[in-house]
Amino acid sequence: MSLLRRQYPKMTEIAKISVGSIHFDDVGRIAVKISDKATSENLEKAASLIKSNHLVGFPTETVYGLGGSALNDGAVTSIFRAKNRPADNPLIVHVSSYDQLDRLIRANSNSESIPEIYKPLIEKFWPGPLSILLPIDIKAKKGPYKLSNLVTNNQDTVAVRFPSDPVARALIALSDTPIAAPSANTSTKPSPTLANHVYNDLKGKIPLILDGGNCNIGLESTVINGLVSPPTLLRPGGLSIKAIKQIKGFENLTTELTVTDDKTPVRTPGMKYKHYSPDAEVALIIKKTTTKSVYDAKEYLDFAAKFEDKTVAVVSQSHLQGKPSALNRDLGDDIKDIQFNMFRILRELDTLKVGVIFIVIDEATLADEDGLAVVNRLSKAASQKVYI
Ligand code: TXA
Ligand code: MG
Repeated sequence: MSLLRRQYPKMTEIAKISVGSIHFDDVGRIAVKISDKATSENLEKAASLIKSNHLVGFPTETVYGLGGSALNDGAVTSIFRAKNRPADNPLIVHVSSYDQLDRLIRANSNSESIPEIYKPLIEKFWPGPLSILLPIDIKAKKGPYKLSNLVTNNQDTVAVRFPSDPVARALIALSDTPIAAPSANTSTKPSPTLANHVYNDLKGKIPLILDGGNCNIGLESTVINGLVSPPTLLRPGGLSIKAIKQIKGFENLTTELTVTDDKTPVRTPGMKYKHYSPDAEVALIIKKTTTKSVYDAKEYLDFAAKFEDKTVAVVSQSHLQGKPSALNRDLGDDIKDIQFNMFRILRELDTLKVGVIFIVIDEATLADEDGLAVVNRLSKAASQKVYI
């Protein structure tokens, strides 16, 4: 790490990627074709940084990732340091083909292929915003695809994802390396959905960020444990829970998330930490189905009065927009819009140095099972939750 610090004291390059110029032959083998010369050169540069155990910020369809070789202790240590992340919060390993997945499984466990339960699930949703837990056996680890124990903090499972974003897939394919990648934010901050979000958090700490534009989904992958019966949801995310429950073996998916405080054992370590918080204070204002107008309600006026001395931004669902103001933002209306917009808006309002962010959402929108990811992220970002 001291070597990395010396080499990259200040410079973090942002390299533009023409996403449409990247093509793949199939999902079985690694085969990538890139028609744009600058894109090809930038991806090759990123791949050689990964191969030499340096870090790269890169887009995925969910959020930007902070990638490093999952096979190398030094690279994994640098990831934890750059993000200021607690070492007991394990990382997701990203692959870009089934061939690569098989190699990873053979080198890190005693089995030859993926557990049966996952087959219909990944057939349907990979590549995509789904991470699954696979068993690993530390003692069985062998060969060139042996994972660093630091990725999993010596746990007996590893979370694996096959992203669909062409830039992510090309980077993994060209480096021919399973890439450990948490979201590319400083720990506790909202996840990044644009290259400049990564730059704001990690400038001077990593040599390169690939800029592939906006992340299509805007919220992290759904993490599933199919190794227990019934399977459990470890983190709600970009993949619909309802869609997962339609897959054979996952009909009874447990979606009750572990209550995470210091005394409760955690099933997914990341859930216990402060998360997704902008610098501004956040208040989640949930409009009950019976309320006619949020902003005229006495409860709202009383609540807002507590923040009279602060700059307040109001971020609301489209149909709940209040009076137009320079600090008001539109979250969109359905869950997909909200997922896409929320982290970007929180980060944008931080650059405007607002004191408080009110997030106004309908109770009915959040009550939908697929609203769970949004409830989860916004509840963690918010220090207060009020029903009006
Ligand atoms: O969409 C995503 O998943 C993004 C992009 C970059 O792929 N990555 C991401 O990683 O969100 P991160 O590190 O920010 O979140 C990983 C989550 C954490 O909650 C972590 O605790 C959990 O997955 N996790 C990772 N490995 C695990 C394991 N072996 N067992 C249980 N939970 C695990
Ligand atoms: Mg994260």
